[in-house]
Amino acid sequence: MTEVLVKRLFIKTFGCQMNVHDSERMADVLRPFGYTATDSMDDADLVLLNTCHIREKATEKVYSELGRVKAAKLARDGDAAPMLIAVAGCVAQAEGEEIMRRQPAVDLVVGPQSYHRLPELITRAHRTRGERVAADFEAREKFDSLPAARRVTGVTAFVTVQEGCDRFCTFCVVPYTRGAEFSRPAAAIESEARRLVDGGVREITLLGQNVNAYRDPDGVGLADLIRRLARIPQLTRLRYTTSHPADMDDALIDAHGEVDALMPYLHLPVQSGSDKILRAMNRAHTAESYLRTLERVRQARPDMAISGDFIVGFPGETERDFEATLTLARTVGYASAFSFKYSRRPGTPAAALGAQVDEAVKIERLHRLQALLADQQTAFNKAQAGRSLPVLFEGVGRHAGQIVGRSPYLQAVHCEGPADLVGRIETVTIDSATHNSLAGRREPAFA
Ligand code: SAH
Ligand code: SF4
Ligand code: F3S
Repeated sequence: MTEVLVKRLFIKTFGCQMNVHDSERMADVLRPFGYTATDSMDDADLVLLNTCHIREKATEKVYSELGRVKAAKLARDGDAAPMLIAVAGCVAQAEGEEIMRRQPAVDLVVGPQSYHRLPELITRAHRTRGERVAADFEAREKFDSLPAARRVTGVTAFVTVQEGCDRFCTFCVVPYTRGAEFSRPAAAIESEARRLVDGGVREITLLGQNVNAYRDPDGVGLADLIRRLARIPQLTRLRYTTSHPADMDDALIDAHGEVDALMPYLHLPVQSGSDKILRAMNRAHTAESYLRTLERVRQARPDMAISGDFIVGFPGETERDFEATLTLARTVGYASAFSFKYSRRPGTPAAALGAQVDEAVKIERLHRLQALLADQQTAFNKAQAGRSLPVLFEGVGRHAGQIVGRSPYLQAVHCEGPADLVGRIETVTIDSATHNSLAGRREPAFA
């Protein structure tokens, strides 16, 4: 056997949960080659930035971070072990060689479907010749080649079930950076879930760019997959993200009413409350059809917490269109939500539209929407006061004797208790709530 030298790996992740998950998978791919994680960029042998392309700001952040990494690399010039810089993720896919032109200190660029090729690319980069850019769209190959052995840490885990997006919202880069929709076979997902549960995981979040469009090669849909996973003993909680309103089918809605392990929390981005804007966005739903979907969801599961995404200032958005968005938000009553100023992304259809909205108008609308959504989130949290909620404890808190977990509605819950409760679900009576979290007491085991 060849000797494996210890090498230090520093990963910085930008963007969505898919990227967080992919970063862990990249660490898994590199571990057999001697790479262990370090928190310090300065003495890392490999610095890996896992990047996001969704808004202009996200992309610019990557280039300014690369400036810092370059300085750290230069400081090591002449060292026996030089630093290697790798760029992964959606900027790597979208901009490829452009990255190396803008920042020549970068040694290799690897797109989201090529992570299984990292060890080979690193070797090639060390030889400073050959192929340094790998960006392709074969999601199938990625899933087939990533190692089955993933390190299990913690009580909750993400499992990628679907990648890519075929929806082509006119503002969005994801169909270009992540490619066509591809769903993993249910059997492979189930065995990964079983391994995670054997390692102590109690909650799994199924990940996909358009997760509720999941359909595996045998025709298994997301609802069937959830029912299958819910039968795994000790897998007490299931979640999924992110969904498209037009893909919320009856089977999935029924599952919310029938599967205990499926948590009453749904992230369902709407983007706008104006049908004119929704049409221009190519969203394939109207404000009304979105509200009807939520009504059906709430019939199946009355306590469902709803979360969403919004974009303000899409090209052509008038004050009236924006008010329709506020009205929709008031009708729904969000438990949490993300909202963004429209960002013009090169190559997307909306970037070419006239009638781009003024930056000042976007800022003002974003403030108004965020004020409303913040009030709704606080109100939702405060409404839990006095209730008894099952809390899955995930770790110890910042103060001695404190433990933290999550409610079924994904709220952070703090209370006093011993560290050995981590991994268990206990009933907590909620005493108080803030915008960000709940605090309470564990109920005595017997009354
Ligand atoms: N379905 C995806 C959405 C990814 S993008 C998922 O799995 O999460 C997350 C959110 O970013 C979108 O819902 C949208 O609200 C926002 N977004 C996407 N493109 C944007 C753009 N060009 N400008 C501003 N916000 C954008
Ligand atoms: Fe982007 Fe729309 Fe696909 Fe979501 S559904 S990833 S917003 S194209
Ligand atoms: Fe960003 Fe790519 Fe995720 S663009 S939001 S990291 S899919």
